[in-house]
Amino acid sequence: MSQEQWNAVDRYITDHLVAPDAVLDAALEASAKAGLPAINVAPNQGKLLMLLAQLHGARRILEVGTLGGYSTLWLARALPPGGRVITLEAVPKHAEVARENIARAGLSDVVEVRVGSAIDTLPQLEKEGQAPFDLTFIDADKARTADYFAWALKLSRKGSLIITDNVVRKGAVIDAANTDANIQGMRRFYEAVAAEPRVSATAVQTVGSKGYDGFALALVTGDPK
Ligand code: SAH
Ligand code: DHB
Ligand code: MG
Repeated sequence: MSQEQWNAVDRYITDHLVAPDAVLDAALEASAKAGLPAINVAPNQGKLLMLLAQLHGARRILEVGTLGGYSTLWLARALPPGGRVITLEAVPKHAEVARENIARAGLSDVVEVRVGSAIDTLPQLEKEGQAPFDLTFIDADKARTADYFAWALKLSRKGSLIITDNVVRKGAVIDAANTDANIQGMRRFYEAVAAEPRVSATAVQTVGSKGYDGFALALVTGDPK
């Protein structure tokens, strides 16, 4: 199996099932033009996020790791009237591009982009009483994924869904000897989820235009308070 084949099949899937969308395409174009890395979710993964949020009936969504707001737009599309996304981004330039993309989508009243390390902005959300969130998407610096998961759980209610991206990393996640902080961080994430009685979780490997990776779903089945 080659990356070319994964690209071709992702194109086939997207051509059939993900309708062309000028606003989403413009967000990717503006992000590329601004020099942001193309590490956004793929279109078919973005639509999966939207569908998961819709079938969950999510009204309040938290995202950790905005980049240019591509996944943010997919999540925001799932919201009923009155719904809200708060998305956390450490790099001001990324947040600025995301805000432009969100404005172009007409979603500035629905999506709030908060600048700062999520390590600081997550406790702030708690202090402000912004919780609980129905759905959290964790997709920021991989080294701290376990910390973000702990915060996502804290900001959840019984029944909330926590989705985590990039949990396979070309299979490197199974290598205990790997010294990359991102890999070690992802391994800590698995250990934390495994030891957490208040969630029911699984993970799925994926291949596609973004390579070989995976995502995890954790349903909050216990009371996080
Ligand atoms: N969710 C986006 C991709 C996010 S890429 C999409 O699919 O479209 C990861 C993002 O996390 C980057 O923009 C990076 O700047 C941001 N990030 C890295 N460290 C962070 C931190 N400590 N707090 C918040 N965001 C962080
Ligand atoms: C990277 C980050 C992501 O969120 C992703 O989906 C793919 C790659 C990265 O930091 O390399
Ligand atoms: Mg990701």
